Amino acid sequence: MKKGLKIFAILLAAFIALQFWKPEEIEYSIPTKDLHNVPAEVNTILRNSCFDCHSSTVNLAWFDKITPANFIVASHITDGRKALNFSDWDKLEKPKQNATLFYAFNKILSGEMPIKSYAALHPNAKLDDRSISVLKNYLTTIAVRKPNQEVPPAAAKDVEKVILNKKITDYSKVKPTLNNISYIPDFRNWKAVSTSDRFDNGSMRIIYGNEIAVKAIAEHQTNPWPDGTILAKTAWKQKTEVDGTISAGAFIQVEFMIKDAKKYEATKGWGWARWKGNDLKPYGDSANFDQECISCHNPVKNNDYVFTAPLHLDINKFNIYNKTK
Ligand code: HEC
Ligand code: HEC
Repeated sequence: MKKGLKIFAILLAAFIALQFWKPEEIEYSIPTKDLHNVPAEVNTILRNSCFDCHSSTVNLAWFDKITPANFIVASHITDGRKALNFSDWDKLEKPKQNATLFYAFNKILSGEMPIKSYAALHPNAKLDDRSISVLKNYLTTIAVRKPNQEVPPAAAKDVEKVILNKKITDYSKVKPTLNNISYIPDFRNWKAVSTSDRFDNGSMRIIYGNEIAVKAIAEHQTNPWPDGTILAKTAWKQKTEVDGTISAGAFIQVEFMIKDAKKYEATKGWGWARWKGNDLKPYGDSANFDQECISCHNPVKNNDYVFTAPLHLDINKFNIYNKTK
């Protein structure tokens, strides 16, 4: 035998012997149900690109089963399932499902998922521009509110009551957030620019804009929003009355995004702040709690990090619940 051939034969034998060495058996083939609450197209995209490592249904290619590739695959699957398992989808409440999709979408946009080495060998898992826009459009429909969804009048009345008469009377006593933003009590006088009630079950939200924001909306100058824009989002528990109408229950929180491209350059041009509960406790354990806000708003970065857009409506329609000063 020629020398080269001999080496090849030895390597081949070693390779075959290696095949008896396998990673611990992983459950590969429990079918995963289609994700309910999600359009079929979105389900298909996630199934093709993510289920191999994030569900109990794995479609392995022949080369994934060869030692040592199978060890890498097995560890990806074990870790992947721990981080996110679409087979447990039904166990999640709807808001958690939505949040999971936002989070997953972030990982796709940032290029972290699907894992690059895997996508290189499994071209099916790669997301093309169309799939990305399908996901994005869907997330936009669950997040962005149609501007003409109006607040039920009862709610608006209660909203005022809740904000105005509860424990806090002297707003100057409200503590600033750890990233140094002071509370802005004046938002009660701003215009409601949008409402949303479906994104989280059981809560209703109203989004207010200050004068600069409202002017920017009227002039279609919302991308980017001008410096000085402030958007406030308020959330209340939703209460269903005996007659079936829905009104605002306990106050949950108010959040602000304050635009100043220079001052807040490090946080995407916005100052982020949230106060919780009737005692308006500043949210966050450290000064960079705003990273959490940014990571969730990141899917709409092309929209200047704002979900609630476009709001190109006749400006007078915003007026209905605007209290006169
Ligand atoms: C080849 C296997 C593999 C594929 C395919 C894959 N992932 Fe992952 N994923 C992992 C592993 C391993 C982890 C856990 C380790 C880590 O965070 O890097 C993970 C973690 C995650 C996390 C949680 C990250 C965290 O920090 O908690 C999300 C969200 C995620 N993947 C989303 C996706 C989405 C969406 C897809 C499809 C577009 C996808 N993954 C495809 C292997 C994979
Ligand atoms: C889990 C994801 C998530 C996190 C975390 C998050 N937001 Fe948002 N935010 C949203 C969504 C979705 C909307 C769109 C309105 C809606 O559906 O409630 C929104 C809307 C807003 C708005 C109204 C303007 C707009 O973008 O529509 C403000 C202000 C806001 N968020 C501030 C904050 C602040 C401040 C933080 C951090 C303390 C934060 N958000 C964290 C998801 C998130």
